[in-house]
Amino acid sequence: MAHDHHHTDTPKHTHTHTQSHDHAHSNTDIDWAEMAGHLESQAELFAPLYESALSWLGKEVTEPGLIVDVGSGPGVVSCLFAEVFPGARVLAVDGSVPLLDRARARAERQGVGNRFGVLAGELPGVLDELDYPADLLWAGHSLHHLGDQRAALTAFGERLAPGGTLAILEGGLPSRFLPRDFGIGRPGLQARLDALQEKWFEQMRTELPGSVTEAEDWPALLSSAGLKYARTRSFLLDLPAPASDRARAYAAEIFSRLRDSVADDLDSDDRATLDRLLDPADPASVHRRPDLFVLGVRTVHTAVRPA
Ligand SMILES: C[S@@+](CC[C@H](N)C(=O)[O-])C[C@H]1O[C@@H](n2cnc3c(N)ncnc32)[C@H](O)[C@@H]1O
Repeated sequence: MAHDHHHTDTPKHTHTHTQSHDHAHSNTDIDWAEMAGHLESQAELFAPLYESALSWLGKEVTEPGLIVDVGSGPGVVSCLFAEVFPGARVLAVDGSVPLLDRARARAERQGVGNRFGVLAGELPGVLDELDYPADLLWAGHSLHHLGDQRAALTAFGERLAPGGTLAILEGGLPSRFLPRDFGIGRPGLQARLDALQEKWFEQMRTELPGSVTEAEDWPALLSSAGLKYARTRSFLLDLPAPASDRARAYAAEIFSRLRDSVADDLDSDDRATLDRLLDPADPASVHRRPDLFVLGVRTVHTAVRPA
């Protein structure tokens, strides 16, 4: 989490401290409600990418009756599903009630509230409360927050109607906002931030309740969950320079979250560069520089429950 890296959830602040260490040590617990605005602006900026992904899914899944968005967060993508599949009911499922409240409000605003529901609870167990099997079950950047991903995929698959499709969005590539050498600091800053984020992500996974180490061969995992016809496709968001205000605000949010979450592991030169990128008064900042762009890739894996 974080930013918009291929993991989109780096928290802005870590709130708790590990007691067993003699110095305050940030952990990877995520305050999801705090992330509402960030998750919304991220999914809104990435809307063209999601539209391509959903239109591809629309060719695989004809006229779904029930779409379940697992780990929906504030429901930007859930509402896009409601728009792209006008004959479907959409159920947004998430552990965070404040985020589901925003999802419901968005659905009302977009005029799809009459076929939009929410379900709050811990995944994957909460799916036992579904009254109907899903024709399409989507998990966007949520599976990797569950300790046992193999067990979760099996649970997702069991909630599908025969012939129903499971689609997970996982992986892709870390997003890019700047050239390798952007004229200040040591070239390669984003690659160094990626490495730190990988470290954060691994720690986040290790600390999840019931964490199980699993090789992330998603098509193989979908097959071992009893699903067939695994397919994979990646989608591109390409917003070239000059960046819009929205793209600049998004880049600022990502760099700011990274500075807060991994700053201790940055050298002072990189920290100073990040500070300049984030200072609105600095012409070299993401708010003003002419070379800022957004380039993002997200990967979707699908598979079908045998009829
Ligand atoms: C990175 S966000 C993705 C939100 C949305 N799918 C999107 O792509 O914008 C992950 C979501 O999974 C939810 N989540 C994480 N762990 C969960 C759990 N164990 N049970 C239920 N929801 C969970 C969080 O509340 C959060 O909304």
